Amino acid sequence: MEPINVLRRMRRWSGNFSKPPGPERISIFLTNRCNLNCRHCWRQWAEWDRSCASELPDARWLRLVDEAAEMGARHWIFLGGGEPLVRRNLVVQMIEKMACYNMSSLIHTNGTLFSPEMIEKIMGKNVQSINFSIDGPDAATNDYIRGGGFEKAIANMRYFADAKHKLGVKFPCLYLYVTITNLTYDRVDHFVDLAASIDPDVRILLSALIVEEDATAQLALSPEQRCTFPEMIQKGIRRAEELGIVTNFQRYLDVELTEDSTNMQRNVRTTQRLGLSGAMCYEPWLSAAIMPDGALGPCCAFYESRRPLSIKDLTFEQVWLGAYMARVREGMFNGKPPAYCARCPSNLFVDKEEMRIFLTEYLRRDEAPRYKRWAGIVRRLGATLREQGPTGLRRHIQAWWKFHRKQREESS
Ligand SMILES: C[S@@+](CC[C@H](N)C(=O)[O-])C[C@H]1O[C@@H](n2cnc3c(N)ncnc32)[C@H](O)[C@@H]1O
Ligand code: SF4
Repeated sequence: MEPINVLRRMRRWSGNFSKPPGPERISIFLTNRCNLNCRHCWRQWAEWDRSCASELPDARWLRLVDEAAEMGARHWIFLGGGEPLVRRNLVVQMIEKMACYNMSSLIHTNGTLFSPEMIEKIMGKNVQSINFSIDGPDAATNDYIRGGGFEKAIANMRYFADAKHKLGVKFPCLYLYVTITNLTYDRVDHFVDLAASIDPDVRILLSALIVEEDATAQLALSPEQRCTFPEMIQKGIRRAEELGIVTNFQRYLDVELTEDSTNMQRNVRTTQRLGLSGAMCYEPWLSAAIMPDGALGPCCAFYESRRPLSIKDLTFEQVWLGAYMARVREGMFNGKPPAYCARCPSNLFVDKEEMRIFLTEYLRRDEAPRYKRWAGIVRRLGATLREQGPTGLRRHIQAWWKFHRKQREESS
């Protein structure tokens, strides 16, 4: 999420606006069904309904796009659950509709179910990124963990990369999305070679394994492996620099992220923060996650056994502003977050804490007396003039003016 969009939305929640805003981002779980059977996957132990009958019909998902556009949502994430491309015709239709509203999307997929026709249809439709889950740098390792799919997924990445070159476009950005296991922790640099062999623009995102039961425990890093992991990461960083591959390896130099792969929230001391920035987590204000049956919660960890409100029976706005989400928001202040927050992945925690610094600073500025705010503006304009000259200053003022005009429009 763009920090400036986050700020704008959080200001609307804290200010005197006629109606609270919708979410910035919506993650959708179209299905719990999947064509693969990965050893580490939550599907192995989660008590989810995997029947087709429990899923919302296409028409409801398509109507959701209209409702979300009406509420000012900007970005969508196709996630699972299961594999979103099990419903690929629906995915294409939704992406086409989202593009008409100028909303962007990300697809998180095992990458095996794309067809050339689908790839052609979604090119140029505001799909910003595609995360291909690949858990081994070679077919043998990946297919041992994921139960197959390496060759197909890599071929589809190449197809996308070629299509981008032919059309001369930057999007979608292609990512190898790697969950770190004890079979690969010492071959981070091999993933870099794999990315470069597909296309130099392919990027890599590492993610920590969440260990819940036997099958995942068998793939978890031992304490000794965790100790040597930063060295492996350093090797990966050097290789990525050599080959010019963009990665998020740097953040895994912090051992805590892999050691404590869930619920780092407990480390947050929110009491000294300002207003909404003091919430334990911002997802309930910024993001919605919708399950295959239409149940709506704040994020991808959302799971309630008792049936929460669903967009099956109500409009998106009714559920977003309804009793369940209000309770979740309140819990973020009184130390009673929902039980599923204990599953919050540590890599999300890092983004959230970066956002906290940004939000606290800006919300504090909002609260400062008027003369102090003006003094701050004059100081910043002076610095821009010194650093970027008159042209830079003019550009800065134009951007500032555009931002504030939009804010006024949104608040009226
Ligand atoms: C549940 S999958 C759904 C989307 C799609 N089927 C896929 O494989 O990308 C979403 C992501 O969660 C990751 N994942 C599954 N189980 C996990 C676990 N126990 N710990 C960390 N990540 C996990 C998968 O590797 C995948 O990247
Ligand atoms: S492909 Fe995705 S949803 Fe399917 S089993 Fe693997 S991780 Fe789970």
